[in-house]
Amino acid sequence: MKALILVGGFGTRLRPLTLSFPKPLVDFANKPMILHQIEALKAVGVTEVVLAINYQPEVMLNFLKEFESKIGIKITCSRETEPLGTAGPLALARDKLIDGSGEPFFVLNSDVISEFPLKEMIEFHKSHGGEASIMVTKVDEPSKYGVVVLDEQTGKVDKFVEKPRIFVGNKINAGIYLLNPAVLDRIQLRPTSIEKEVFPNIAAENKLYAMVLPGFWMDIGQPRDYITGLRLYLDSLRKTSSPMLASGPEIVGNVLVDETAQIGEGCLIGPDVAIGPGCVIESGVRLSRCTVMRGSRIKQHACISSSIVGWHSTVGQWARIANMTILGEDVHVSDEIYSNGAVVLPHKEIKSNILHPEIVM
Ligand code: GDD
Ligand code: MG
Repeated sequence: MKALILVGGFGTRLRPLTLSFPKPLVDFANKPMILHQIEALKAVGVTEVVLAINYQPEVMLNFLKEFESKIGIKITCSRETEPLGTAGPLALARDKLIDGSGEPFFVLNSDVISEFPLKEMIEFHKSHGGEASIMVTKVDEPSKYGVVVLDEQTGKVDKFVEKPRIFVGNKINAGIYLLNPAVLDRIQLRPTSIEKEVFPNIAAENKLYAMVLPGFWMDIGQPRDYITGLRLYLDSLRKTSSPMLASGPEIVGNVLVDETAQIGEGCLIGPDVAIGPGCVIESGVRLSRCTVMRGSRIKQHACISSSIVGWHSTVGQWARIANMTILGEDVHVSDEIYSNGAVVLPHKEIKSNILHPEIVM
């Protein structure tokens, strides 16, 4: 089986992290977002993943080549010279996606995280005999998403409305599809949207089916959702009693600590924390609901909550980093600084308090 991941876009809503890496390579729970997806695809027998890219393809490919052999999956790139939207890239990659077997292929948005119940999805797809299957999930704020109105019994989709202004339902498109090759005959090679142009047409012919995704789901393309997504992801690791979760007297709730990270004496860490490779957490540090990315140092008695510390940054002693502070790559926060919701661009030094959310350029 094959799969295509929609990787385009600049990831502006996840700046400053996406100023250093394309969004799919931003770490989530200690590994690049896209690896969560590639590993899940591999687990259900996908042999080739096509990355549909329109921005920095070299960076992505260099990085993923290393994982090709580690994971044992072929990773290729389909490069757009102009952004083709969410459907155009499928037309561009047509020859890579069809191999004569007539098998369906997966399509994923690159910024969604879930337990990826892809095996269940394959079974669902076989069971209904339609042309396309999509996963849906319930959310409180459906207007930010594609809303799907379906028959609860059969899963047949009556209506697909992208970002509706008026309420039509609370089940939304989770950005995970399984499509028959016939869907490609509906897509022209031009900038076009699968949500606005393709799905509504398939639904009108009664050939679009939706399955309610079991387990958690989150679009982690924005800082607040990224932090919520980490909580949900760690909860799901807890449910399966994953050995990846840390334990010990200094740990509260669900915490991931890379095996190469060092944790000093008398820290209190958790809940909902991820500490990446090579990080040094000095003594007496308090961390909760946060991510500390690869190579960062948190100095003695600093306190970080509901925030993201980008790669190779340092946070000074007694500093307090809170309320959706996002430090880009290689940011250095001086001792005793308080940051309330600062968004700090890469390679900056913070030497005075930031009392209200602001962007530090
Ligand atoms: N290759 C390529 N080219 N990829 C693109 C392009 C493009 O021109 N434009 C967007 N993408 C990719 C994005 O990188 C992302 O992986 C996916 O297509 C969806 O785009 P987003 O910009 O993240 O859309 P959204 O989050 O507003 O809405 C989409 O996702 C929701 C779920 O998170 C839609 O699919 C909604 O229906 C859905 O509910
Ligand atoms: Mg998105």
